[in-house]
Amino acid sequence: MSESLRPPAKRLLQVLAGEAVWPPPVWLMRQAGRYLPEYRAVRARVRDFIALATTPDLAAEVTLQPIRRYRMDAAILFSDILMVPWALGQGLAFREGEGPVLPPLRDAAGIAALQPDRLIGRLEPVFETVRVARRMLQSEGLGETSLIGFAGAPFTVACYMVEGGGSRDFAATRLMAFNDPDLFAHLLDIVGAATLAYLSAQITAGAEAVMLFDSWAGLLSASQFRVHVIRATRTIVDGLRKAHPRVPVIGFPRLAGTLIAEYTEATGVDAVGLDTGMDLALVRSALPSRVALQGNLDPIALVAGGSALEQEALSVLGAMRGRPCIFNLGHGIVPQTPPGHVGRLVELVRAA
Ligand code: CP3
Repeated sequence: MSESLRPPAKRLLQVLAGEAVWPPPVWLMRQAGRYLPEYRAVRARVRDFIALATTPDLAAEVTLQPIRRYRMDAAILFSDILMVPWALGQGLAFREGEGPVLPPLRDAAGIAALQPDRLIGRLEPVFETVRVARRMLQSEGLGETSLIGFAGAPFTVACYMVEGGGSRDFAATRLMAFNDPDLFAHLLDIVGAATLAYLSAQITAGAEAVMLFDSWAGLLSASQFRVHVIRATRTIVDGLRKAHPRVPVIGFPRLAGTLIAEYTEATGVDAVGLDTGMDLALVRSALPSRVALQGNLDPIALVAGGSALEQEALSVLGAMRGRPCIFNLGHGIVPQTPPGHVGRLVELVRAA
């Protein structure tokens, strides 16, 4: 291809390949969602969240909403980490004001009833969403925006499956891991294999990078973290490398604390998502310079806006400068975020 015909480089993918692009690419976890009036309008057209996530035209529409409004460098597929348990045949409902509800999975019989062979067929609407979103980005002149696919990491997904929903401490899950380690390992193997197949199919459909959300990784002791977070993640990264050697993987072991360096080295991820409490200067010196850093503005600073937002954003930018890095939050956007504050944040990053 001649120089002039080559499509413009995608900044997010450059960073994930190890380049220190400045100003850094920016996108925000949970950037599509209830804080956007245009999201609430689409959401009102369907019965529930699962209907939205399994209707490709609507899910792709919602995927693009924050890109149209803010020109983020990346779109993230609109779906949920709990679509894997749903597709494994464990019931799932999202109740208004209550979050996700699943029948708790506590014994061998429950695990034996999961249907891994049905997974990919049931998730076909998600792969179609990826194809539609890629086409829409191209046709709307947003071809420099990368499309990120994602899944929950096995431990975090298992937390919701065993508990039957959200929890402050996921004690029943951690208790199963101690009391019946073989059963818990078996569950993580099933979820891990499903996650690898799911991410692989997202990539085949057009996802250009993938992210593994391990939101509850930080609940584990160091020894349990090595098994349920690091080993489970490495198995998926290894599998993805074999099938799709050039597609980068972002890992997000939330609240991993001092285990972040070992996680990064041992899993082989291309980038790490950093939660809000991580000191970027310390993380920078602890991680190999080929690994991209993604994070870590406090989502509540984004709600606050004004000079608090400005100071916090500049401090993140200052600490990441010179490294391959991606500007993001330390956790997802919260629903009460004023949309104007997101616009102001993107301006601040672009002016860095
Ligand atoms: O822009 C995006 O990031 C959209 C895609 C996305 C959603 N969930 C949509 C969603 C992503 C990447 C997720 C990840 C997710 N889901 C995580 C990992 C990240 C994190 O926040 O720790 C987790 C733990 C979940 C599980 C989940 N899904 C919960 C606990 C809830 C209910 C509470 C809540 O935040 O609303 C959901 C529902 C959900 N997933 C909504 C959205 C937009 C809101 C439901 C609705 O609109 O009806």
